[in-house]
Amino acid sequence: MILRQRKTSLIKSIIGFCFILLSILALTIQWMNMSSDTGSVQKSNKVDLFAEVSCSIKCPRASPNKLEFSSSSSESCPEYFRWIHEDLRPWKETGITREMVERARKVAHIRIVIVDGRVYFEKYKQTFQKRDVVTLWGILQLLKFYPGMLPDLDFVFECGDQPVTQRSDYENSKDTVPPPLFRYCGKHSSFDIVFPDWSFWGWPELNMRPWDELKKELQQSNELIKWTERVPYAYWKGNVVLGEARRDLLKCNVSKKQDWNARIYGLQWGLESSQGYKTSALATQCTHRYKIYVEGLAWSVSQKYILACDSMALSINPHFYDFFTRSLLPTVHYWPINEKNKCKSIKFAVDWGNKNAKKAQEIGKAGSKFVYEDLEMKYIYDYMFHLLSEYAKLLKYRPTVPRDAVEVCSDTLICSTKGIRKKYRVHSMVHNVSSSKPCTMPPPWSPADLQDFIERKENLTKQVELWEETQSF
Ligand SMILES: *[C@@H]1O[C@H](CO)[C@@H](O)[C@H](O)[C@H]1NC(C)=O
Ligand SMILES: *[C@@H]1O[C@H](CO)[C@@H](O)[C@H](O)[C@H]1NC(C)=O
Ligand SMILES: *[C@@H]1O[C@H](CO)[C@@H](O)[C@H](O)[C@H]1NC(C)=O
Repeated sequence: MILRQRKTSLIKSIIGFCFILLSILALTIQWMNMSSDTGSVQKSNKVDLFAEVSCSIKCPRASPNKLEFSSSSSESCPEYFRWIHEDLRPWKETGITREMVERARKVAHIRIVIVDGRVYFEKYKQTFQKRDVVTLWGILQLLKFYPGMLPDLDFVFECGDQPVTQRSDYENSKDTVPPPLFRYCGKHSSFDIVFPDWSFWGWPELNMRPWDELKKELQQSNELIKWTERVPYAYWKGNVVLGEARRDLLKCNVSKKQDWNARIYGLQWGLESSQGYKTSALATQCTHRYKIYVEGLAWSVSQKYILACDSMALSINPHFYDFFTRSLLPTVHYWPINEKNKCKSIKFAVDWGNKNAKKAQEIGKAGSKFVYEDLEMKYIYDYMFHLLSEYAKLLKYRPTVPRDAVEVCSDTLICSTKGIRKKYRVHSMVHNVSSSKPCTMPPPWSPADLQDFIERKENLTKQVELWEETQSF
């Protein structure tokens, strides 16, 4: 339905401000129910898979030749790659056994196996909006970008929003290692191997184009209104019913009685899609000096779009992280908003920014620079490459193709899609191999350095809280 309503002409400048997911609470609840139903894991669902790859095309029989580079040097990866070491730390001593992966599979949606550069896929549960297939698509593009370079792999993916492996469940049992589970976001109180979410290859349901294209367009729309000419208030637009923090944010909206410097707008995706997303286009959203970031039911895909505006991002303390957000620093890339006192905190941030316009612009620029430079598609593939390579080093067994798995390749994932879904796949398809090596992984933090980094973040946030309390600009 939604697909049909969205016509090609709209595809142009539309980018929704997005919000995570979840537009459907009911579905999440359904997942939760399924997650708790660990006793009866379904065997792969051939019918579902068949719908995805039901054309007669066969994947190439030959494995790809290994890509060689003439130059041996490579640039360093962005700082956020260091989190790869932290995410894999729970298995550093023990390695990862087949038994652990099988255990993780009880809560997972899909299993992906790569043997000799060929990709096999097994599906355990349905996912929301085919996230699993988009993720699989991303992995297939990675293999086209760096052919023959990935080791053999066997891993499982949980495609929901809320972390499922709680640290507290493992605290008192020293000999039980958590199941290695790939996910799109994590939380400090859970074990998650964080992987780039589907939005980098496009989110058809919300009309969000693949990141490569969207990024260019955002960059252009950003130039349209200079920071100083933008509306000097904090802007947020989104689905207000997703999560308590968002409902709470509504209270900060301007009213006859009170002005907290916030301009809050609700958005219903159903309505937007029927009207061609005219009002949710991101190009029409880089109009304010400040943009609020607030989580939905978990992390929100919207964060990179909010940062991309050159506006100072006001971030209401996030509880979840995705693969890059842990390296964002308060007062450097964004301004921290105190969730317990949102309205006052937003009011102060805007007043501070308008009085310290140069600094506010610097913060806005630094956030955008991070998104434009450190989140280039090359780095997204490099991140996936390094994460999967480091994970593979931990495997204690040789991955083999599960009996119920189906081989997939770009051609089989594209041939059975239609409309905007197909368009996004065509647009996000990798045609050429990488012209340079993957970037060089930074070494792990020493425990002291990691502690220092975390403390630095906390200190910067405390500094702002102190300014707020004393109202010092
Ligand atoms: C916030 O206030 C503005 C101005 O009164 C109004 O146009 C807007 O609809 C309000 N937002 C919400 C979500 O109610
Ligand atoms: C891909 O490679 C072909 C042939 O080498 C070249 O003509 C084309 O410009 C490349 N495309 C991109 C996007 O680099
Ligand atoms: C954080 O602040 C404390 C107290 O002011 C200070 O002792 C500490 O060195 C700071 N840490 C970092 C990493 O800046």
